[in-house]
This record gives sequence, structure tokens and C-alpha cells, in this order.
Amino acid sequence: MLVDVRPTKRLHGSSPLDVRPVLGPLVQALGQDSVDLSRLRVVCDWIQYKHNFRDTVDVRSITTTDGMESAVEVAVDLRRAGSVDISDEVVEALREHRHPDTRGRTYLEPWTPGKNSCIWDFNALYWQALSSWEQATGAAYEQALPGGSSDARSVGAAREMIHKLFSIWDELAVHNALPDELYVIELGVGNGGPARIWLDEFRVMAQEHGGDYYRRLHYIMGDYSPYVLKQAQHAVAEHATKVSSIVLDATDPASALGFLRHKAFLAYVSNVYDNLPTDEVASLSGRMYRVEVRAYVANRAAERLAEHASLLSSDIVAVAAKLLRLGPELLAEAMPAHFPDVGAAVRFWQELWAEVRLEERYVPLEGLDLYEIAPSVTGEALRPVLEGCGDIRMQVSNGAVASFVGTLPLLHPYGYLHCHDLFVTDPARYDTNFCGPGKYDGSVVNWVNGPLLRYIGNRRGFDVDFVPFTHRASTNIMTLTAQARD
Ligand SMILES: C[S@@+](CC[C@H](N)C(=O)[O-])C[C@H]1O[C@@H](n2cnc3c(N)ncnc32)[C@H](O)[C@@H]1O
Repeated sequence: MLVDVRPTKRLHGSSPLDVRPVLGPLVQALGQDSVDLSRLRVVCDWIQYKHNFRDTVDVRSITTTDGMESAVEVAVDLRRAGSVDISDEVVEALREHRHPDTRGRTYLEPWTPGKNSCIWDFNALYWQALSSWEQATGAAYEQALPGGSSDARSVGAAREMIHKLFSIWDELAVHNALPDELYVIELGVGNGGPARIWLDEFRVMAQEHGGDYYRRLHYIMGDYSPYVLKQAQHAVAEHATKVSSIVLDATDPASALGFLRHKAFLAYVSNVYDNLPTDEVASLSGRMYRVEVRAYVANRAAERLAEHASLLSSDIVAVAAKLLRLGPELLAEAMPAHFPDVGAAVRFWQELWAEVRLEERYVPLEGLDLYEIAPSVTGEALRPVLEGCGDIRMQVSNGAVASFVGTLPLLHPYGYLHCHDLFVTDPARYDTNFCGPGKYDGSVVNWVNGPLLRYIGNRRGFDVDFVPFTHRASTNIMTLTAQARD
């Protein structure tokens, strides 16, 4: 039996985490259970996201190619384990695992790779129907972020980017190689606050610099939420003649922005990659697995939800699907007897989302070359990242990879990509830290696989660098830059 205590940093320091009250009873309970200990892994994480998709104890199958269970993983959240009777939880979770019919779960979907889970439909709904959500909570989405606001609002970070742009442009101008139109694109603009700061600073710096960079600037804001784009347009109204906005999918920027091929001097992407769909893969005892998930709510929660909306608990799956298809406004119109107004539909949405959990299982991955990370990127790109790591589980960041490889061709040969995000830069982090998914309000967050992006960028002739975001103290945000090699 392997017991993996992952949050090793917490075991040190002035008030170290004492795992004995958890591990002692846990190992004892396992010893008294009929589970085959020789085929058991116990993985203890510290899940820093207060709102997440896991229970304190989860049990997962590790399966063979013919769907049989070859081993079992018991996952424990050490943050919450101290406040439950861990022996009871483990015994009960294992019993339910052996008798799935007694699990008391209402499944929202069949088994699926993580990136296809309906949690991403919830995520998209959040951005599409943000106004209804924010109205109900009385708080803007930024308040759910660590620190209560987006790091992209940093004036210092904006000035740094603009300064770099001016250097590139000045150099090109000397050689008469600067085009008249200076394109900057931003993917995933949110409420436009960061864009506003960027444009304000740009205007000031352009004035100080002299010349006509502000006149020549075209700032293109892209987002998949028309509501968000409208908010952003409002925020940058003072720069309206310089700005266009486009509804686009950040995972396929070239579809909408193909006309900018080799023309954009800056592609700016802040806190978006961590919000794009991802699979997880794992290497366990020398075998590669893909993590499959199945979103569910506990039957007890389904009953509560049903009662609040005068539904039968057997209706919950269909109504959840309807919510994801229609959004809260149309749901209220379509089912007035259950949701007399939009507020009632939003309450249902928020309660449902709070209850959504992910059941997981490991399914063998038959050859990395057969696995598609993103269009034109096969799983082979994972090999150098996984090499030498031993047992490991990590996000593939499929959406981020798709966005990244779709953005690079839009860059002018001297242009660059600039991203602020939660990047894992050393694969060792996956061994010791929980990297998602978590819930930020109605959205999903996962740390982004930096080594994978670096490898993919390098293979395409780009230098990819990561530096800590220095414009706010104690933030986990890193800055990625990618620029074509000389
Ligand atoms: C957390 S907000 C970041 C806003 C802003 N960039 C910042 O740093 O404060 C994420 C933004 O990405 C957008 N977004 C998420 N997934 C997207 C996708 N697939 N295509 C386009 N936009 C997306 C959301 O609508 C939202 O505006």
C-alpha cells in the first residue's frame, strides 16, 4: 500500500500540519476493511479551494483496458479531514465503491474526459449570464479572485508591456519596417477594467514618447461572452475609436482573428488559460492514464434542490440540462411554475453549482501519440514533461494549449504573447500541490501546465519564459511571454 502525503511544505514550519490524527485512524480503518491493501493507493492532498468538486474522502478505480478494476485510490482532503470522523468516512466510501447502487448520487452526465465535462458548460454559462449571477450575489466576479481584484489591473504591469512594445516599434521604425497599423489583441477581457488601465497608460506613455503610436493603435478585445464584451466596451469608452470588440472562442482565436496573421504586436491574455477546459493525465506505476469524470450531486442535495423549486428529484438532471441550454432568464420563462422570476432560476443555478462534485476514475491511455491535446498537437508533447517524474498526475491544459498555438501565428515576427496566469513551471509542483479544479464563484479554475506550453512553443520556434508577477506581493500569478526566436 502506498500512502502519498502531498502537501509536504505544510509538514514544516512553526505550526506544521499534524497528519497523525488523520493517517492513524485511516490506516487502522483500512486494515479492518476487506479492501486489498496490496492494490491500494492513499493520496492526501490539501485542497486550498474552499469550493471544489471533491468530498473529504473519495474512492477511485484504476482500470485496465478491458474496464476491470486493477487497483483503488483513496483520496483524502487533509484540509477538511480533521473535522470529520475519518474512519467512518473511509469505511463508508469504500463500502459505496463496492456497491455503487447505494452511493446515493444523481449523475448529471456519463463518464467523460475532464475537458468534456458539463462543468465547462456551467463555466460558460457563468460568463454568459454573469449579470444575473452578480445581481444575485451583489458582488462583481473579481471579488471572488484571490486578493479581491484582478492582477491585470496593475498599472506597473501595463507600463512594462507598453514599454517593451515601444522598444520593438522604435527599432522597427529606425529600419522603416514599422507598419502603419499597430495591432494589439486581448483575449478574455472580463469587465474591461484591465483594458481600460492598459489603454490609459498607453495614451500617457505615447504622449511622453512623442510620435503617433496612439493614433496608429488598434486594440482588439475578444471574449466569448457578449455580455462581458459590452461591459468592456463601456469601460474603454474613452478610447472607443481605438478599440474593436469581437465575440470569439479563446481556444480558437484564428477563426475570428485570421485577418491578423503575422500582424499582432501583442497578444495579451490574463487569467483566461486557467479558465479553459482541461483533461488530467496520470502516470501510475509506469502506466499512463487519463482521468475520466462524472459530474453528480448527492441525492440528498438533489432532493433539497427539487423541494426549493417544487420539482421531483428525478427532474433535477433534465432541469439542470435545460438551465445549461437556456440560461436562467429563459429557464424562468419556460418554467414559471417552478421559477417565478429570474432570481429564482439563479438561486437554483447557484445551489446546484455549489453541490456539483466530480467522481473520477483512471482509464489507460493507449499511446500518447493517439491522444489529441489540441488540434495539431498530439499527446507526444507530454512525454518530455512526464519524463523522469515517476508517479504524477497533471492537467493537460487542452484549452490553454489550443489558445496558445492558435495565437502564435497571429503574432508579427517581432510581436509577443503576454499572459498572466496560474502557471505550474516545474512539474515537481504537481507532486506537492493541488492544482485544481476549484470553483471561483460560478467558474472553474485549474493551474496551467507551463512546461507543456514551453515545449510546444519551443517546437514552433518560440522562446517561452515564465517570471513571477512582481507587481503584487504574495500572488501566485506568473507571467508567460512567448516571442519568435531571432
Ligand atoms: C477571469 S476572467 C479574466 C478577465 C481579465 N482578463 C482579467 O485578467 O481580469 C476570464 C475571462 O475569459 C473569458 N473566457 C473564458 N473562456 C473563454 C473562451 N473559451 N473564449 C473566450 N473568452 C473566454 C470570460 O468570459 C472572462 O471574460
